[in-house]
Amino acid sequence: MPGTAAALPQILLIGNGAVAAEVRAAAKRTGLFAIGAVLVRPARVAQVQQELPGLAVIGDLSALAFRPVVAVECASHSAVQAYGPALLRQGTDLVVVSIGALTDDGLYAALHDAARDGGARLILPAGAVPGIDALNAAMAGGLDSVRYVSRKPPAAWKGTPAEQLLALDTLSEPAEFYKGTARRAAQEYPKNANVAATVALAGLGFDATEVRMIADPSVQANIHEIHAAGAFGDMHLTIRGRPLPGNPKTSSLAAYSTIRAVLNRVRPVEI
Ligand SMILES: NC(=O)c1ccc[n+]([C@@H]2O[C@H](COP(=O)([O-])OP(=O)(O)OC[C@H]3O[C@@H](n4cnc5c(N)ncnc54)[C@H](O)[C@@H]3O)[C@@H](O)[C@H]2O)c1
Repeated sequence: MPGTAAALPQILLIGNGAVAAEVRAAAKRTGLFAIGAVLVRPARVAQVQQELPGLAVIGDLSALAFRPVVAVECASHSAVQAYGPALLRQGTDLVVVSIGALTDDGLYAALHDAARDGGARLILPAGAVPGIDALNAAMAGGLDSVRYVSRKPPAAWKGTPAEQLLALDTLSEPAEFYKGTARRAAQEYPKNANVAATVALAGLGFDATEVRMIADPSVQANIHEIHAAGAFGDMHLTIRGRPLPGNPKTSSLAAYSTIRAVLNRVRPVEI
């Protein structure tokens, strides 16, 4: 049964975009946790405070007036860098949605060491893709190969190096324009970095995970495929996700898996 707001576990929400809006809605809907504060860029505090009456909006960690049960980053690479190590070092568990940031080995090491030293946990949700639990579990028996395929309509690749490799406006057949490591994929195609990094971190790492990217005029949606083989057998997963109303670039499942990560901290049963 939902408790009163004062008695609920309080989270710190970093960011005020499409994913954050879903997490705020889930707090209301489930009644299982409350938003203790929303951390935004300092220049935006006054404006966001007007948009979110009744919530504490802060521009810096020094203004945090409570101990969050978990902090949830749903902002950007720079936010992971700015707040992640400090929160973990002070013992606050952290959910990172901008997982592409972890392609930066230095930042990953900083977060890892801060979590170890602070006795906190760095929590990486599955985000936009399925099978991350199975992929990571399969590591226990040994994985032989992991491949992530990103298939999008040609227009969705505009503004990326694919523009130099393909005639995106006149493409009549599917064209694979990238095949290589997850590390190079995340570096050259940062907009694809979240999923490539999640698959790499759950499985064989950035250098042994193969990524392929395809511009496909026959599809309307962004399609993610994960193929893996190992001692467990083999798996082949496809997801055709719907975007969030608040941000057409973000899959709704990325928000829902963030909510799941929070719920797993506050309910008695973790699944
Ligand atoms: N893991 C995944 O599979 C996955 C999937 C989709 C999106 N994402 C990532 O999740 C994050 C959030 O996505 P979204 O759709 O909500 O984005 P969005 O653009 O709608 O919102 C991001 C918000 O964070 C704020 N922000 C950015 N940097 C900040 C900082 N340094 N300090 C405070 N606030 C800051 C922005 O002002 C904005 O309000 C993005 O980084 C996105 O790349 C991850």
